[in-house]
Amino acid sequence: MQLVFATNNRNKLKEVQTLVPKHIKLLSLADILCNEDIPETQPTIEGNAKQKAEYVKTNYGYDCFADDTGLEVDVLNGEPGVFSARYAGSKCNSEDNMKKLLFELGDNTNRDAQFKTVIALHLNGKLSTFTGICKGEIATEKHGVEGFGYDPIFKPNGYDKTFAEISLEEKNKIGHRGKAVVQLIKFLIT
Ligand code: IMP
Repeated sequence: MQLVFATNNRNKLKEVQTLVPKHIKLLSLADILCNEDIPETQPTIEGNAKQKAEYVKTNYGYDCFADDTGLEVDVLNGEPGVFSARYAGSKCNSEDNMKKLLFELGDNTNRDAQFKTVIALHLNGKLSTFTGICKGEIATEKHGVEGFGYDPIFKPNGYDKTFAEISLEEKNKIGHRGKAVVQLIKFLIT
């Protein structure tokens, strides 16, 4: 089986590729010669995942899946959430986003948060979604160099380390995207 993973994010591709069985060949957006920015204009994480999958199917004709992820912080009423990628502004990077989040939290002692990933699969004319959640807390400062995005400031529950201090395999086992991908794979192989 051949399936497009609608992402340009090499880190995501690497995470997902290690989980998918070998007989499912993943194609990236580059593989289907899609070099444009796919619209993500919906008000929810689920809406954005569906929008991306539908966009690729409609414009490129491939069955595909897309993911959208947000970091939801309890005392910030679920922010940055669907705005996680552009929390500090549309031209900002992950460093800026983490800096803003640490500033907004200040010395607040409730630092509970969760990562949420929704994967939308467009297959044989049907759209299905799979959700993965990883609960944890926001560290008071950055630690570690692995991973990407907010990984250096997110400590999953049960760990005294951030996502950026653990291996890709370990993150996949307990992480939001890994949990959503496991459901996706189950759906694909049954
Ligand atoms: P998107 O799913 O690519 O739209 O990601 C939204 C934002 O969350 C971006 O700023 C990503 O860097 C960040 N992000 C997505 N997945 C992860 C993750 O697994 N760890 C840390 N940050 C992530």
